[in-house]
Amino acid sequence: MRKAQPSDHFSFGLWTVGWTAVDPFGDATRPALKPWEYAEKLAELGAWGITFHDNDVFAFDASTAERNEIVSKLRQTCERTGLTIPMVTTNTFTHPIFKDGGLTNNDREIRRFGLRKILRNVDLAAEVGAKTFVMWGGREGCEYDSSKDLNAALERYKEGLDTVAGYIKEQGYDLRIALEPKPNEPRGDIFLPTIGHALGLIAQLDNGDIIGLNPEVGHEQMAGLNFTHGIAQALNAGKLFHIDLNGQSGIKYDQDKAFGHGDLASAFFTVDLLENGFPNGGPRYEGPRHFDFKPSRTEGMEGVWESAAACMEMYLLLAEKARAFREDPKTAELMEAASIGELSEPTLGSDETYADLLAEPEIDIASASAREYHFVALYQHAMRHLIG
Ligand code: GCO
Ligand code: MN
Ligand code: MN
Repeated sequence: MRKAQPSDHFSFGLWTVGWTAVDPFGDATRPALKPWEYAEKLAELGAWGITFHDNDVFAFDASTAERNEIVSKLRQTCERTGLTIPMVTTNTFTHPIFKDGGLTNNDREIRRFGLRKILRNVDLAAEVGAKTFVMWGGREGCEYDSSKDLNAALERYKEGLDTVAGYIKEQGYDLRIALEPKPNEPRGDIFLPTIGHALGLIAQLDNGDIIGLNPEVGHEQMAGLNFTHGIAQALNAGKLFHIDLNGQSGIKYDQDKAFGHGDLASAFFTVDLLENGFPNGGPRYEGPRHFDFKPSRTEGMEGVWESAAACMEMYLLLAEKARAFREDPKTAELMEAASIGELSEPTLGSDETYADLLAEPEIDIASASAREYHFVALYQHAMRHLIG
């Protein structure tokens, strides 16, 4: 497999390779490097961009001077190595002040503090040229249902999102917000647990036009959902603004494994959709191929870079196989047998009336019921391309 290159548009969060592997049960197993050291190495591996939370780069309590100095050092490394910064996000989950969330904290003063932190980070995102501002509300939620007025919490969530989006508009920034759903962890239940919940809430917002989604593979799979279907619905709604690619094996804690190192067949269909689009055309994803994974705690620094390279290699391998699958005439034949093209034909004719539909002579129920779709043969053909 060829090496990743900037034209592949692979990007990585600094917190991914930068995770020192502290978990609830154990201490760090790896040293912390400087932000620019991670960037430097990612560029060497063929990445196109890096992304970060404010506090991946500078400390929670950094002064403005400290913040500016460290950001400018990181930007210099990016310029020298040709890395872009396509996305920036805010840490509203690590510091104890956010233990009950930022935008939906019961404490109003803390909500106001959270908003100020986010707005300052919007300024930084615009300053570094990011186009996407991810908002992952990891602490927006609760463990105990009695701890929240859930209606008020959702109202405050909407208010918070509209405020941030309104600020972006007022400042004239070329920036869109991407919400990242997750069902649980660190909260027992997180608000906006899935893509569908987030789409529903966005539709109620005043400034929802610049708010979309940053779905993560593992987060939908933690809820037992089909990630490819989720991003398909986001695309269909014009809301797939960004993506977090990683690996997850079933319904359990957020594994954040390397991309494809989980449900491989699902990863294949995700890449097929991202690279080749829907079989009958329609909206396409044009954004970064962003990895949000955690190199396992067993890995040292060599393993960290092996894991980052694995994410890109998995994507490239799957892209090659998905392309071959789509180009194969046998695939077209099986898609035809499955009537996949027919699904894009509207069910009613453009000038048809209800009366026309109702008056239509009844179809032959027995033969319609007995028709074959050959869905299994088509899937098997995809698997032949994937592992054959
Ligand atoms: C997770 C999340 C986070 C977010 C990130 C963006 O694994 O729980 O993916 O990593 O993506 O914090 O704000
Ligand atoms: Mn995750
Ligand atoms: Mn993520």
